[in-house]
Amino acid sequence: MRIIVTAGPTREAIDPVRFISNKSSGRMGYAIAAAAARLGHEVRLISGPVSIPAPGKVAVERVQSADEMFRAVKKSLAWCDVLVMAAAVADWKPASVCAHKMKKRSTGSLLRLVRTPDILKWAGRNRKKQLLVGFAAETRGLLAEAGRKLREKNLDLIVANDVAEPGAGFDVPTNRVTLIHRSGQVECWPLMLKTKVAGRLIKQIESMLSTGV
Ligand code: CTP
Repeated sequence: MRIIVTAGPTREAIDPVRFISNKSSGRMGYAIAAAAARLGHEVRLISGPVSIPAPGKVAVERVQSADEMFRAVKKSLAWCDVLVMAAAVADWKPASVCAHKMKKRSTGSLLRLVRTPDILKWAGRNRKKQLLVGFAAETRGLLAEAGRKLREKNLDLIVANDVAEPGAGFDVPTNRVTLIHRSGQVECWPLMLKTKVAGRLIKQIESMLSTGV
């Protein structure tokens, strides 16, 4: 299969030296891209700024902002059979970017923010045959919130995790995920290395593609 994986955070520039971002390390997305390549699939990884090396046999496209990630996904969606959005896309960006470093003596304390595009929601509206897999990082109401995102973004599968739980959050090697299928079926996987979660997820996607579920 041909698979696009997005990974890492996005950075939304405030001025030439500052940005808004989040705690994503990119580990989960990179592990998914590596697992897919290892299993013989064609992989394109669209990566936000992270400090981990690119996996072997994976074409990496590096982006900074949500807008850039959106452009990269739009360009490649028709190419793929599966899109896995593991990236932690920033939901807000500054309304304007200052060309020069903002000076505290001349600027107020308020930053005006506007929404970034919801990439996965766009993919859910514009997909043809592609299977869509989303992630939901939550701190409360895990199943309800992930289920809502699955429906609102028109996904086939959502991988939910409680980022407040020890060993399952950002920048740790392990994760404990719950999968919710389009049919409503829920699967709770035990705490595992992210590399293990990634391998199992690719197997799951392979079986969904082959059975058409
Ligand atoms: N996502 C996206 N574009 C965005 C925000 C999120 O494509 N602008 C994708 C993420 O990559 C993830 C899924 O949507 O696969 C859910 O992201 P999450 O941040 O958990 O949810 P949000 O849609 O931002 O909703 P909320 O703010 O209510 O948590």
